[in-house]
Amino acid sequence: MKKSRGQKPGIVEEERKMGLNSSHIECLVLIAILLCITKCYAQNVFNIMQFGASNDGRTDSTQALSKAWRQACWRDGGGVVLVPDGRFLIFSLVLKGPCKGSIGLRINGQLLAPIDPNFAIAQIWLSIYEVDNLFVDGYGSFDGRGFLAWSIKTFNRPISMKLTKINHARITGITSYNSKFFHFGVHGCSDVTFDHIRVMAPRDSPNTDGIHISKSSGINIVHSRFDTGDDCISLGPGSRFINITNIHCGPGHGISIGSLGKYPNEEDVSDVLVRDSTFVGTDNGVRIKTWSSSHPSFVTKIVFLNLEMKDVRNPMIIDQKYCLDCSRDKMSTSRVQIRDVRYEGIRGTSATQAAVNFECSQVFPCEGIVLQDINLSFNGGGQPTSICHNVKGSAFGKQLPSSCL
Ligand SMILES: *[C@@H]1O[C@H](CO)[C@@H](O)[C@H](O)[C@H]1NC(C)=O
Ligand SMILES: *[C@@H]1O[C@H](CO)[C@@H](O)[C@H](O)[C@H]1NC(C)=O
Repeated sequence: MKKSRGQKPGIVEEERKMGLNSSHIECLVLIAILLCITKCYAQNVFNIMQFGASNDGRTDSTQALSKAWRQACWRDGGGVVLVPDGRFLIFSLVLKGPCKGSIGLRINGQLLAPIDPNFAIAQIWLSIYEVDNLFVDGYGSFDGRGFLAWSIKTFNRPISMKLTKINHARITGITSYNSKFFHFGVHGCSDVTFDHIRVMAPRDSPNTDGIHISKSSGINIVHSRFDTGDDCISLGPGSRFINITNIHCGPGHGISIGSLGKYPNEEDVSDVLVRDSTFVGTDNGVRIKTWSSSHPSFVTKIVFLNLEMKDVRNPMIIDQKYCLDCSRDKMSTSRVQIRDVRYEGIRGTSATQAAVNFECSQVFPCEGIVLQDINLSFNGGGQPTSICHNVKGSAFGKQLPSSCL
């Protein structure tokens, strides 16, 4: 007993010693790992300052951004381009893939477009082309500085950030100001998510759509805010599997499908879901728009769900009589067929009496239009009305205005 008692403290002491030793070792290993992570991380980050960028907002940093992109893009295992705090003047630039790994653009500073409205070549400012696995994030912004360009009547003004042929991308956190034309363009892309982005331009700025999508599928736009002069989000031909959730829109022209039918062989628009969003003081809430005399295509499987309208001029509108030379196109003979559109839980106030306005094509009437639980009052006083021309469908639940189906 005595012997073992005598041994015990020794063993305990040894254990304690060993315990201290091993925790020291653990600690050192941990530090080593942390250092390595920091180092490895640092190696895949390409700060544009190291490529000659200047953060004074006046010196051209286009080449620096371009070089940093090339290094990040060509790095095995992927890379990140860092735009640090500061102001950076950038002229037209195409950031091209394919890249060797995933590629990120972390914008913490401000990217500034030239103020001169004539600077842009080929309708772009920042273009990202043919990339798989892209992220754009950071707490920074890009500023199109469109004030002078807006007065020039042309559709050749540059999109601020144009994404073409991108698969698997996340655009998060960043803000776009005062684009000369659209803020974001998405063309030929799949699986792209915009999350917590912010778009800002004056309510009277022309063509400053927040995000314009065409020929793309699997696009998610969530938790984002659009205060702009034109459509908050517009969907052109070939937009499929588009989810728009938790958006604030306004000022602006609302969310628009179209204009469609202008060109021959346009791809259809289908599987669009707009839900849980708010429209404040906008021209339209949710709109489907086709040219009055048009080429044929389909718009199908569209759902508008749980939307709040505040002082919106046309909360629910289908316009198949869109025309510029309207004296010639008095009748809607649009050949775009609209089918299976559901409006459910649309509520709030309309700034015009015709809270629901469906002007469908005479030659291809709208089919399968479903209205469920519509509660829109006219904030000018009096009863709101609904207009239906060439519409087939059904209505359920509450209907204010009373349904014209
Ligand atoms: C859109 O939302 C629906 C329903 O929540 C979901 O089934 C679908 O996968 C989503 N689409 C995309 C492109 O994420
Ligand atoms: C319709 O909206 C009004 C005003 O917002 C509200 O008081 C009313 O309860 C709503 N009705 C239904 C059935 O939701």
